[in-house]
Amino acid sequence: MKAKVERVRIFDTTLRDGEQCPGASMTAREKLEIARQLARLGVDVIEAGFPVISQGDFDAVQTIAREVRGPIIAGLARCVPKDIEAAGLAVRPAGAKGRIHVFLATSKIHREFKLHKAQEEILRLAVEGVRLARQYTDDVEFSPEDASRTEPEFLLQVCRAVIEAGARTVNIPDTVGYATPDEFGTLIRYLRDNVPAFTSGEAIISVHCHNDLGLAVANSLAAVRNGARQVECTINGIGERAGNAALEEIVMILRTRRDLFGHVTTGIRTQEILKTSRLVSRLSGLLVQRNKAIVGENAFAHSSGIHQDGILKKRETYEIMDPREVGWGQSELPLTKHSGRHAVAVRLKQLGFRLSEKDINDIFERFKEIGDKKKFVYDDDLVSLVENHIAEVPLTWSLEYLGFSSGNRAIPTATVQLVRHGTKAGEREVRQEAGTGDGPVHAAIRAIDRIVGLSGQLVEYNLRAVSEGTDAMGEVTVKVRFDQGEPVVGRGASTDVVEASARAYLNAVNRYLYTRAATGRRTRARKDGEP
Ligand code: KIV
Ligand code: ZN
Repeated sequence: MKAKVERVRIFDTTLRDGEQCPGASMTAREKLEIARQLARLGVDVIEAGFPVISQGDFDAVQTIAREVRGPIIAGLARCVPKDIEAAGLAVRPAGAKGRIHVFLATSKIHREFKLHKAQEEILRLAVEGVRLARQYTDDVEFSPEDASRTEPEFLLQVCRAVIEAGARTVNIPDTVGYATPDEFGTLIRYLRDNVPAFTSGEAIISVHCHNDLGLAVANSLAAVRNGARQVECTINGIGERAGNAALEEIVMILRTRRDLFGHVTTGIRTQEILKTSRLVSRLSGLLVQRNKAIVGENAFAHSSGIHQDGILKKRETYEIMDPREVGWGQSELPLTKHSGRHAVAVRLKQLGFRLSEKDINDIFERFKEIGDKKKFVYDDDLVSLVENHIAEVPLTWSLEYLGFSSGNRAIPTATVQLVRHGTKAGEREVRQEAGTGDGPVHAAIRAIDRIVGLSGQLVEYNLRAVSEGTDAMGEVTVKVRFDQGEPVVGRGASTDVVEASARAYLNAVNRYLYTRAATGRRTRARKDGEP
């Protein structure tokens, strides 16, 4: 008889744990776009944020719960009423697909030094927290934080108690990335065999592994082999410190090694993996290393002659996956400056973007500018235009004019004209300044600083060619520190590198001014007990 194939649920926490990565903060609009793409990717659960943290986080979770259909939408909460209430209200628009994810530390070290509570009290608080969460939704997940360093017998007691109180999923986090695959697998097997609801399938074991020792994926897989049926992970493995288990790796291992994992399957549409990875990378400002498995630029690039020869004779000699399976090499015919608004709108739709008429008009304006400068506008160019558009926050400043001169004997000089947009419709004021610097980019930044009255410190600068050819569009990502705060990401694209850089810098300025006015979040201190 054929063995039953069970589903491993993919719980994506890119927008919560992933966003805890320093410098990865995203706007609500960016989070919504990522959530939509995660739904297209086919994840089962999207952990959309930690609603009690700030009004911005609450709004982002609520908007995603209202707008994104398909996956379950989860909000994180500590085991305290105000967190649970905020999470419950934020996920309410998702209806039966709203989940509250409650966590409380259980390990000895956390009990003694962080919480100052005995085991009995932890048990009581966990049960009360789950019961309270159940008043908002039937779908409650509980995480005993630092589970892998918790005494297994106590962990067993916690699992039984929270399930009894109404949790349907119990997540076992390796919070500090300390476990090794053998011991983590043994722990999961022990829980599975000794908690009746796990054995019967009434409740699900989830795992959440961090990558401090580079074992997050290996530990998650060991857990799946031993009974876990939900894996928490992030796109590109981003997350707190060394990050979380990478979704794309987990999914492709389960798929590629069916000989070992034939008893399980996921609902992921793997062709969407690369697109999702690029979207997250660009919107979070966290670049993917070239040699990253599955989604890095070199993941399927064979440079050695022997390998290339082997591939030509039989692909499987050196390739264990078909790159097209994860979305590589799927370009359509490029557009040109002669392509009309309709053609651009149709292609945007084919690429999976759901945009308003106003968004399409704005993107079409930029498309025409780019089309005038380069022969072909490729899908990657278009995606870059959309992502840069999404990255725009309500504009305080926009670029009107940029001129510069440079040379090996001349002092690099730039003249910049910016428009300041007022709060009333149509209110605008043009200001102009010039600057000199070590190069034309530096000179342009100095001129911008003079106009906007800020002095940004450029902490990171990355340039990549979006598509191929000498007329390729350049995309610049910067991280800029203003007023000693956390770095702010900015992005800009153009066929001219200096213009792309000025646009990226100005995008960071606008994002800084917008978040400072809207939430003050960049300067907030982390709350006690926040993971
Ligand atoms: O790493 C961790 O323990 C967490 C929990 C909140 C699940 O992120
Ligand atoms: Zn975590």
